[in-house]
Amino acid sequence: MGEKVIPLIPEEMLRRRVMELAETVRLDYEGKSLILVCVLHGSFMFSSDLMKLLPPETEIDFVDVSSYGKGMKSSANMELLLDLQASVEGKHVLVIEDIADTGRTIDFVYKRLAGRGAASVKLCTLLDKPSGRILDNIHPDYVGFTIPNKFVVGYGLDFAHKYRGLQYIGYLSFDD
Ligand code: IMP
Ligand code: MG
Repeated sequence: MGEKVIPLIPEEMLRRRVMELAETVRLDYEGKSLILVCVLHGSFMFSSDLMKLLPPETEIDFVDVSSYGKGMKSSANMELLLDLQASVEGKHVLVIEDIADTGRTIDFVYKRLAGRGAASVKLCTLLDKPSGRILDNIHPDYVGFTIPNKFVVGYGLDFAHKYRGLQYIGYLSFDD
């Protein structure tokens, strides 16, 4: 089965939106100790671009969670591949996700953060696919773009480990 990538969000639009998000986050967390928690692998590019626009005191740490394997369907069986190394005690945590789909990954990450003494925990997701939501307690605090129910790739997001390096976001179309 071959797939085609149809452009959805061009590079320039991504760049501008990341700048806007960074400005909002910067103002909201002014004077507070902020740590970004980048959810690997999908949000590495977004986290990096966002962090470059935030104050130099901003910290970052990483978690890696797998739910997908090589397919396009999220599974309820989440596995923690990499845990946080940093202490979040007394710090304001901003979880950085590439996309909120069913909400399971975010729910899993939130549960891992609970009880670690963070001053606050919020979510910034580049993309939100509300039509895919299974856990309706997941409400992103910062959203780059709300997108339709399509499988998207690029700017960090993959399909079977491919397409992460695209500078734009596109959706997959399959010719059968
Ligand atoms: P959720 O757990 O279903 O909310 O999905 C979140 C994770 O699944 C994201 O962090 C992505 O890694 C992956 N994911 C969900 N939808 C897509 C998509 O359209 N393209 C690529 N990855 C996706
Ligand atoms: Mg992910």
